[in-house]
Amino acid sequence: MSYPYQITSLEAYRAEWRRSIDDPEGFWSDVAGHFTWRRRWDKVLSWNFTDPDVRWFEGARLNITENCLDRHLEERGDQPAILWEPNDPQDAPRVLTYRQLHFKVCQFAHVLHNNGVRKGDRVCIYMGMIPELAVAVLACARVGAIHSVIFGGFSAQSIADRLQDAHAEYVITCDGAFRGAKDIPLKSVIDDALVSCPFVKRTIVFTRTRTPVSMIKGRDVWWEDEIHKVESAGNPPFPAVEMDAEDPLFILYTSGSTGKPKGVVHSSAGYMVYTNYTFVNVFQYRPGEVHFCTADIGWITGHSYIVYGPLGAGATSLMFEGVPTWPDAGRFWDIVDKHRVNILYTAPTAIRSLMAYGLGPLQGRSLETLRVIGTVGEPINEEAWHWYDEHVGRRRCPIVDTWWQTETGGVMISNMAGVTPSKPSHATLPMPGVEPLLVDEAGREVVGNGVSGNLCIRSPWPSVIRTTYGDHERCRTNYFSTYPGLYFTGDGALRDENGYYRITGRVDDVLNVSGHRIGTAEVENAINMHAGVVESAVVGYPHDIKGQGIYAYVIMGELHGDEELTRRDIALTVSRVIGPIAKPDRIQFVTGLPKTRSGKIMRRILRKIAEGETQNLGDTTTLLDPGVVQDISKGRINR
Ligand code: WTA
Repeated sequence: MSYPYQITSLEAYRAEWRRSIDDPEGFWSDVAGHFTWRRRWDKVLSWNFTDPDVRWFEGARLNITENCLDRHLEERGDQPAILWEPNDPQDAPRVLTYRQLHFKVCQFAHVLHNNGVRKGDRVCIYMGMIPELAVAVLACARVGAIHSVIFGGFSAQSIADRLQDAHAEYVITCDGAFRGAKDIPLKSVIDDALVSCPFVKRTIVFTRTRTPVSMIKGRDVWWEDEIHKVESAGNPPFPAVEMDAEDPLFILYTSGSTGKPKGVVHSSAGYMVYTNYTFVNVFQYRPGEVHFCTADIGWITGHSYIVYGPLGAGATSLMFEGVPTWPDAGRFWDIVDKHRVNILYTAPTAIRSLMAYGLGPLQGRSLETLRVIGTVGEPINEEAWHWYDEHVGRRRCPIVDTWWQTETGGVMISNMAGVTPSKPSHATLPMPGVEPLLVDEAGREVVGNGVSGNLCIRSPWPSVIRTTYGDHERCRTNYFSTYPGLYFTGDGALRDENGYYRITGRVDDVLNVSGHRIGTAEVENAINMHAGVVESAVVGYPHDIKGQGIYAYVIMGELHGDEELTRRDIALTVSRVIGPIAKPDRIQFVTGLPKTRSGKIMRRILRKIAEGETQNLGDTTTLLDPGVVQDISKGRINR
């Protein structure tokens, strides 16, 4: 299979982009023509960004797994679909060819069906990075159920919140997960979550670590036992359930500026077309190559560029169970050499953490198979970009800096490897179908080049967020109401003299810690749950490895005893409420917070102090008690 919609020159990119904006329906209908449909669409696009209401390929019928699996069987049934590298390098890797993956997905689709899962049901998946996670995701899609994958770093409380919000009656998990030297007891976390989710009817548990687990009669079943039943029935095929183009494919929870994560909903057809299109074009994928995306499938990057994008394109996708620094900081490079990886797609935080180990771990690693390297998740600083270019790409691999979001489903702004120009720390140019614009605070468009503003998108691309689960109004207010008629990304950006975009980071109260999105309000809510805490305010500060660190200002009712111990207690509380990924890096006890007369916390000032700025704190005259600022600034924590 080659890709008729693969762009191979800068001129072609310019022409395709222009056409995609002038005639989106013609453009996307041509791309979509290369997919497998049970029924073609009646209308390519109808939309408004007011409600919002966006429909792509209306009237079309399909199942995304027929595009990711069935249609490849004839031509590439014996080609690896998934290459799996286990946590422990001493253990054997696994290979699932397209035929084997198809077989396993059908088997597990039967398991889901036998356990009562039907089209439209929500299924929560909480597993480590093993091939069965991909199998579970695809099996949900095959039966038409809506999957909601939850990253292994979230706590029982976070899982319960998500299960309740989605009213998910089914859970797929593992006994445990291996991550580096750690063994995470996933099933036991699920058990804690289920205490407050009595509506969950079934939990299916895959054996990975063989840690002892409690299995509740009538609710919990073993994956392996259920598979046996399907085998005894002679492993019948599982015909994919026919879906409507706009039927939801999955929910993925992400943080916003309010205290509660939102369930971002993606639909079937548009998401399928866009992830495939961007995969093939951004990475310039060539059939037969090995694509290694280091993200976890618990995040959107794993959904789009480990599972759906690559498999839709008939690619070989490498899945890694472990972490980049275990058993040593050369693990990624060993994997690249061992599996002859051609495309490596990772996050700036991973690059920075590996940079900190120096060049030793790169010695003796050839990396000769690499052709394209990429980053995602946060702005990449120039130092990390150059290190990646020089020591990983060995100056012969284009770096793709891909900007996008959970809500956008696929890459929005990025260079295309070797086809369009790259520039350090710049995501550069929009993908075909994407029309970015910058606006000022008042919502006026900022025109011309060499300017900055808040990044918006003018019209829909096929994988734009459709709604936030169970609360459409929230989707509207979050993304479509700040600047009426536009999708607002929450990011700030510069557009340089050449029209290349550089994303500068969030302009709302969302932090990006090691590429993980965390809302300050969520962290504050969690801190405030700790006994003795009266009030708190959380801001980000620059962190060498994580990109941003979490800085918390906390007012205690009474502070008894050891401050350090209280800090640890607060951190543990956050870990319990949200998960270890949201633990504050620095906690400063304060007696007051800078508030305006109307009671609003002036975060601008807190941010400056956290960043180490003590002199130019800007205008503090509107503060109720300007004295509080001096006290906070004196007590700043810098370790
Ligand atoms: C940030 C991850 C700069 C941005 C796919 C965005 C980036 C948020 C880049 C989305 C990049 C992502 N350069 N910033 N190349 N990629 N971001 O939803 O702030 O986990 O809004 O999706 O990450 O994070 P999310």
